[in-house]
Amino acid sequence: MCGIIGYFGKEEALPILVNGLEALEYRGYDSAGVAVFLEGEVKVKKSVGKVEILKKSLKNNFCSGSHLGIGHTRWATHGIPNKSNAHPHSDCQGRIFVVHNGIIENYKELKSYLQKQGHNFKSETDTEVVPHLIENFLNSGKDFDIALFDTLRMIKGAYALVIIDKENPKILYAARLSSPLVIGVGKNENFLASDPSALIGKTKNVVYLNDGEIAKISQNDINIINLKKKKTPYEIVHLGWDLEQAQKGDFPHFMLKEIFEGPEVVRAAFRGRIKSKENLVKLGGLEKVADQLKEVKRLLILACGTSYYAGLVGEYLFEEISRLPTETHFASEFRYRDEPFDKNTAVIAISQSGETADTLAAIQKAKKHGLMTLGIVNTVGSTVARETDAGVYNHAGPEIGVASTKAFLSQLTVLIMMAVYLSKNKNSSKKLLEELEKIPKKIEIILAQSAKLEKLAEKYKNYKNFLFLGRRYNYPVALEGALKLKEISYIHAEGYGAGEMKHGPIAMITENFPTMAIIPQNSVSEKMISNLEEIKARKGPIFAITTEENKEISSLTKDIFYIPKTIEPLEPLLTIVPLQLFAYYIGTKKGFDVDKPRNLAKSVTVE
Ligand code: F6R
Repeated sequence: MCGIIGYFGKEEALPILVNGLEALEYRGYDSAGVAVFLEGEVKVKKSVGKVEILKKSLKNNFCSGSHLGIGHTRWATHGIPNKSNAHPHSDCQGRIFVVHNGIIENYKELKSYLQKQGHNFKSETDTEVVPHLIENFLNSGKDFDIALFDTLRMIKGAYALVIIDKENPKILYAARLSSPLVIGVGKNENFLASDPSALIGKTKNVVYLNDGEIAKISQNDINIINLKKKKTPYEIVHLGWDLEQAQKGDFPHFMLKEIFEGPEVVRAAFRGRIKSKENLVKLGGLEKVADQLKEVKRLLILACGTSYYAGLVGEYLFEEISRLPTETHFASEFRYRDEPFDKNTAVIAISQSGETADTLAAIQKAKKHGLMTLGIVNTVGSTVARETDAGVYNHAGPEIGVASTKAFLSQLTVLIMMAVYLSKNKNSSKKLLEELEKIPKKIEIILAQSAKLEKLAEKYKNYKNFLFLGRRYNYPVALEGALKLKEISYIHAEGYGAGEMKHGPIAMITENFPTMAIIPQNSVSEKMISNLEEIKARKGPIFAITTEENKEISSLTKDIFYIPKTIEPLEPLLTIVPLQLFAYYIGTKKGFDVDKPRNLAKSVTVE
């Protein structure tokens, strides 16, 4: 998705903008551009491809001395990736410069109206209507603030906008509707960004804009007003993220670094929250709804992608540990269903970014029906965190690799703790919490054997299709393992519940169609063995993720990766790690940029 950066302050603007754009690169983009104000002029530079190309084009002291500017990485929606479609976009006079994330749904009618008024468009984008609309209102004699308000009222869709008005370089304008935008608060400087991770190393204090808010930012001042022109108060949120967390360090890729952060991510999620000796889980973020939670009879988990698969594990956890009927839905499907609701149902929305458009829409729908909404969110202060009634933060630190890895582990850890928190029979949880405390060490044991996975990745890397099989808690792990392989290596992979295999997918099995079997010794491993026998009988290669206790597997395959034993509800915290590494090694061996897989965006802020 597109990325936005804006700067107004004491420092040289351009290096800060380029730096911010580089920090946003992980979101996925195809072109980039900047506009900087200097001595009464705004200079624009755009390029197609990597920010590196833009950077090269900015040599010869391009606009040095500027303290005000905006930048953008574009992920094409309307019009191909080329220089004219890259942002910033401007009006006919070259007075107004705009960067935009989101989609302006009524841009066609606005464009044809403006063209009839004599406006000359230079791009195929929806964004370009914004500077022309403002210009149109300015032409009719309105001042800039009113022209901006009137423009925002005419736009339908989603926007995060940052705007420079050349005639008033004392203010940087920003506006938000359904597309994230955050103000970074500094000393004699302020920033704007579509994603707080672009501000790491610059400031830890941020203000999240709400829908329908307009910010007027100067070097030392922030003013926020709503569409009714009323000044609105704002809260400064402190992000605990450090610069090292947003750097690769000695790792070749963020994805590998983040997989290796697994043990610490699990510890960070449960630190200060569990006391295994007292069977106690303390989740401060749920305290204010603790009484209401006692009345909850059913849970609905809503999320997308990897967060959805964590939610599927949650379904098993809440049913077994909390004894609460639970269903997990894709947020994108939930938002259009027409199901009856019971007021004793609570919704749990899971989101790493806290900005996923479908998840947000699902939360809105749940709220409309009077349901209590809880969030499991990694990004502090993000929209999901603010829109839900209560919630639990992951504390996983920024996840930069586009494919989610460490967030999955922290989401599982939070779900386990929530399941104990909601359980009426806390006594049965002692063992579970004790085992959870041992998980980080067990993940370390897996990571220490990564060379074995690399070897197996070499052996398997040329297959064109994979089937991932698991049962019970490891069924969602099979789905997530397949998703990781697809995203990172572009190999077709399907995850299935092993029992379903013979109802269809078995037709695909040949000696060229390997199966990744997730089969630790547990209550369903016997059943899995029978399923794998069926695969072996059809000459399908098998790669098993298992525990030493499973003796039968060695008669089915030589390709075995052993993980430490744990109790069944906690198995996904271990079984997913080798699958993440397997996807990583196959992707890198095939020469792909695993941190920025093609066509994918880190935070999916459009429907
Ligand atoms: C997969 C992946 C995506 C996200 C999904 C939801 O590796 O990263 O499937 O999990 O887009 O994102 P969040 O959790 O930010 O709502």
